[in-house]
Amino acid sequence: MENASSQSLSMSNDVLSGGPFIASTQSNTIGNKIAYMERLVNDLNSSARRENALHVLSKRTDLFNELAPLLWSSFGTIAILLQEILSIYPNLSPPTLSTAESTRVCNILGLLQCVATHSDTKMLFIEANMPLYLYPFLKTKDILPQFENLRLASLGVIGALVKVNTKEVIGFLLSSEIIPLCLNNIEVGTEITKTVATFIIQRILADEDGLAYVCATVERFFAVSRVLNLMLKNLQTQPSFRLLKIVVTCYSRLSDNRRAGIALTTCLPSILTNGTFINCLREDPAAWRCVMQLYENMGVNEVRLVPGGETINDRVGSSSSGK
Ligand code: TRP
Repeated sequence: MENASSQSLSMSNDVLSGGPFIASTQSNTIGNKIAYMERLVNDLNSSARRENALHVLSKRTDLFNELAPLLWSSFGTIAILLQEILSIYPNLSPPTLSTAESTRVCNILGLLQCVATHSDTKMLFIEANMPLYLYPFLKTKDILPQFENLRLASLGVIGALVKVNTKEVIGFLLSSEIIPLCLNNIEVGTEITKTVATFIIQRILADEDGLAYVCATVERFFAVSRVLNLMLKNLQTQPSFRLLKIVVTCYSRLSDNRRAGIALTTCLPSILTNGTFINCLREDPAAWRCVMQLYENMGVNEVRLVPGGETINDRVGSSSSGK
């Protein structure tokens, strides 16, 4: 259980930070590494050696840059990974999934995250509709760690897809209705899960089509803003600057849509305008730019926001000149 959870966590942190694929500094020669990885990928075909191969491969996706193309093109590998994924569907509802099953599939998802990250395999992964096989995991609501880890590892794969935006990726995710799944994950998940799910929404909103999609109907807009509001409220008692920054970026981007900007003037939680989070947000130039943009789009009176007569513009000036 701890394995699965630390595994999912490190994969998600990869999504949110620089990514795992930094060349290893190990002293092995390249040839040795390739042979070692090929042997492990081959072992996935053997039911006796699969468990160990999965464990080692998913921990060492950083060892070999070309692991993703190797997984994708080696004979039968993706079919085996899919088989493993499908085999636990019956245990999702009613929720009877064991910790060992969850750990095993989290390792599989780690390998798929590697495939979703690599520029040579990302589009092949999308064209084969691979993300759809993760959606049943994202739909679960059970809060037991084995379900939470599965959701986090699945979001890690989607997060890897949206990290470097391409129109096709966003189009695929929108038409397969990823947004309600992200909203579900925000509602039931832990902080790290909320963060990855909100990050995915942030990346979708950054795209013109994504923003237009969310703002196309009142129901969609309110479904998203309700969950963002909920997170802001929770952030007061469980602070996470990383999550706050993503939430604020989402609000700011929503306000770029004219109708959504108007709606936000009435439904934006007062904690975003009354100073609760202002002090920490203005320490971060990128976050602060989002706040400024949000206020500008909503036509908020700037002087009212910062007590003591100092305007937000003064603050931005001082914080950016300090850099
Ligand atoms: N079919 C729904 C729709 O297109 C999907 C959906 C549910 C949705 N909740 C959402 C889309 C929230 C965006 C935001 O509206």
